[in-house]
Amino acid sequence: MDKHIKLGVIGNPIDHSMSPLIHDQFGEAEGIKIDYKAFQVVERDLDKFIKSFFADGGYGLNVTLPHKLNCVRCADILSSEVELLGAANTLTKNSNNQIIASSTDGMGLIKDLSNKNIEISNKRVLILGAGGASQSIIPSIARMSPAKLMIDNRSPDKIAPLLKKFSSFEFEAFKSNNEPIDLLINATSAALNGSFKWNLQNQFNEETVFYDLSYGKAAEKFFSWAGQFSNKRFDGTGMLIAQAAFSFQLWFDTFPDISNINLSKVND
Ligand code: ATR
Repeated sequence: MDKHIKLGVIGNPIDHSMSPLIHDQFGEAEGIKIDYKAFQVVERDLDKFIKSFFADGGYGLNVTLPHKLNCVRCADILSSEVELLGAANTLTKNSNNQIIASSTDGMGLIKDLSNKNIEISNKRVLILGAGGASQSIIPSIARMSPAKLMIDNRSPDKIAPLLKKFSSFEFEAFKSNNEPIDLLINATSAALNGSFKWNLQNQFNEETVFYDLSYGKAAEKFFSWAGQFSNKRFDGTGMLIAQAAFSFQLWFDTFPDISNINLSKVND
């Protein structure tokens, strides 16, 4: 029988997820027959959904908002990155039917920055935001040995707990001065509320790279704000594809070709 491997992504909402489109193209390119679906799952059904998905022959799941933290409790084994973050975006099943939680967001960002020749090593990097998106990338960026890794957040009280959580890394609260910032990463959801603005300008120049973890329309407000300083602006489309590729690799032990992925739905 011609059986397709059962995969999916869970979240709420999930309508706009690009993951089915991306993974279908990976499957096609790699000659692996997959049946990848998006499932809207509410919080109270989370544990039941995950357990029955795998019990019913499911092979792997991606996890997106708001379940990245809570899915971890459903796993039998946590990758070291998930131990550190307390959040996961990929679930796999091993031969003993144990569920393994992993996180590929940080790796996806590093891969995309490297594909774009954006250097981190010895650069001054500022991350805006202290929520889940920010936390998922902090260790990966820190491991690349930036000259300085700094964080700023609208609510300053959220910074100290993060410095504590990631105290094994060189990582500090942003303090305004005159040293230029080489790479600014927007990990806030500010633009979802209609506009983007950060009270900071004298540390940017036309060489500063501006990178938004969100993509498509969600990144437009950040882009127009960043445009007053630099043309080096990127959204998170490449990261989205790369984190998906690392999930695919966890399931199938092969890193798919990410160079020709068509995301024509990205601006929906
Ligand atoms: P996510 O999982 O996407 O990171 P989150 O955990 O709710 O979502 O975090 C959202 C981040 O965006 C937070 O850093 C938040 O700042 P606060 O800690 O002050 O809430 C930031 N954010 C959201 N709206 C913002 C706005 N209008 N201006 C600045 N920062 C904003």
